[in-house]
Amino acid sequence: MRTMTISDTSRAPLTANVTRLGRSAIDECRDLAESRHWDREERKWDLLFAVGEVYGIRDQDGELATAAVLARNGATTATIGMVLTAERYERRGLGAATVRHLVSVADSAVLTMYATENGRPLYERLGFVADGVNTSYRGTVTAETSTGRSRPAEPADLPGIRAVDAHAHGADRSKVLNRLPRFCSHLRVLDDHGAVTGYAGAWPNDTTTVVGPVIAANEDDALALVTDLVADIDGPIRLEAHSTRPRLTEWARSRDLSGFDTTTMTYRGEDHPGARDHWWSPITVALG
Ligand SMILES: CC(C)(COP(=O)(O)OP(=O)(O)OC[C@H]1O[C@@H](n2cnc3c(N)ncnc32)[C@H](O)[C@@H]1OP(=O)(O)O)[C@@H](O)C(=O)NCCC(=O)NCCS
Repeated sequence: MRTMTISDTSRAPLTANVTRLGRSAIDECRDLAESRHWDREERKWDLLFAVGEVYGIRDQDGELATAAVLARNGATTATIGMVLTAERYERRGLGAATVRHLVSVADSAVLTMYATENGRPLYERLGFVADGVNTSYRGTVTAETSTGRSRPAEPADLPGIRAVDAHAHGADRSKVLNRLPRFCSHLRVLDDHGAVTGYAGAWPNDTTTVVGPVIAANEDDALALVTDLVADIDGPIRLEAHSTRPRLTEWARSRDLSGFDTTTMTYRGEDHPGARDHWWSPITVALG
């Protein structure tokens, strides 16, 4: 546990004890997110508590001052997400203390995270480097026609899904992947004579159906998976498109989806061990 004292002239000193939060803190995390104008996202927080480690700092009254999530993929890679500091404690080093703690418990894992404009300087000081820009698109796609190239995933596809995902991520993400059939409202695969060569899912969040993860060997496959998923989805969707994925961006724009948020993708550590050109969209930016 990392401890430091934050001087504060207006209140009693706050000791920055970063501790692991149990599932019972889910509503406090959602309250903290909402206080920073993020959605409450119960389904997402539920997944994050199940597959990740949620940490935070409590103030002298026991209230949550910060929160952040570390999601490990075996020992080789991990993602940091949902970094939040309550507004009343902003700019006193608590966000940095929390992320530093996560970096330390992640040990030698290569870390990825999507940084907001406010968060980015903090992460850069902790050794994260920028790796392109991610744009979040949102909107309703009407009358999308399926390409007919993918099919709904079946239970027997899970080993194939785990294999293509492990290749793209350079890590075993079984913990989260085993939950996908229940977590996703839509899950599709591409198969070549019975062997899964790519997969994509979509899941219902507060106000949109989030399209992701998308793992595919090439652009045509990725776009076919996204198109086939979206052909089945009613109502607004959300889709992440990284700056190194211009055709995905083009796909989103040509459907009149609007880019409502941008984040900088950052990483820390050695080269990413995965075949990153097979990675197209995250499950959620908090998990990669
Ligand atoms: C980003 C965030 C976690 C920073 O938390 P924090 O406890 O204030 O962080 P620290 O005190 O350790 O570091 C402060 C640094 O963050 C940045 N920062 C924090 N608040 C900021 C603000 N309102 N405007 C601009 N930059 C800000 C600055 O670089 C600042 O350094 P400085 O004070 O030397 O200029 C917090 O502002 C927050 O929760 N924001 C809303 C949610 C969010 O964007 N989270 C980041 C996800 S990647």
